[in-house]
Amino acid sequence: MTRPHGERPEDIDVRRANSARMYDYFLGGSANFEIDREAVQKIVEAMPDVEYSIRASRGFLGRAVRYLVEQGIEQFLDLGSRVPIVGSVHEIADTLASEVRVVYVDTDPVSVAHGKQLLGDVKQADIIGADFRDVRSVIEGAETTGLLDIARSTGLLMVSVLNFVQDDEEAVAIMDRYRAALAPGSYVALSHATAAGLPQETSDRIDEVYANVNPPSRWRSPKQIEALLDGLELVPPGLVTASEWRPDAPPDLPPDRIAYRAAVGRIIR
Ligand SMILES: C[S@@+](CC[C@H](N)C(=O)[O-])C[C@H]1O[C@@H](n2cnc3c(N)ncnc32)[C@H](O)[C@@H]1O
Repeated sequence: MTRPHGERPEDIDVRRANSARMYDYFLGGSANFEIDREAVQKIVEAMPDVEYSIRASRGFLGRAVRYLVEQGIEQFLDLGSRVPIVGSVHEIADTLASEVRVVYVDTDPVSVAHGKQLLGDVKQADIIGADFRDVRSVIEGAETTGLLDIARSTGLLMVSVLNFVQDDEEAVAIMDRYRAALAPGSYVALSHATAAGLPQETSDRIDEVYANVNPPSRWRSPKQIEALLDGLELVPPGLVTASEWRPDAPPDLPPDRIAYRAAVGRIIR
């Protein structure tokens, strides 16, 4: 990859595969390097139908945004957004002819620099570089864009991101902090990687790849994912595989082969 987007070379670690750049490659983007593509290749060898899981999680994101816009949500905070390419929140909102505003958040400098350039002419969306675990700086940064008013109901998107938080207690604490920071009537849409349903050998091989990826991803069991949703009022159908959450069409793979669970919950106080 060349660096046409202004990111500083010292910010970019090309010695280790990076999960944002790997995901970008999975989704057909150009913000990735050879080392990222090699890591993806190893994952595909371990799990040839992994693409369906990624599509299922992305599909969930699209349906969740549509659902939340239907509930009257007009502003979104998309944590770990990666480069907001095709199918991103502001594009989905556009198709709904809605006045939705979006702040994308990522720590990956390539995603943020590339995203800034892509969103240059887009008035209703911006991207900030921040660590989503630092709730206060995410919210301050998001408000600084002028697009988000934290006193109003927000759609918080945590799609395939909490799997980058290794510690269970920290993951629960992050959810608690966002729940406390957002206005009642806000919603959280969450998808999380799970190995339930995968052969042990497959998940072990993927773990080996992620041992050398920055940041590494981890699986959580459906029970552990349920614990992250504590205190939210889940909308039907609750926590299910990502392809089973209010599908528009019959899923293309049996649900137990999809390595993501997903849910949408409302913040009540
Ligand atoms: C698997 S991608 C998911 C991208 C997007 N949410 C989607 O579903 O298409 C995970 C993203 O989370 C970002 N990420 C991981 N840890 C993060 C952190 N602590 N703070 C902000 N972003 C983070 C990565 O850089 C990457 O872009």
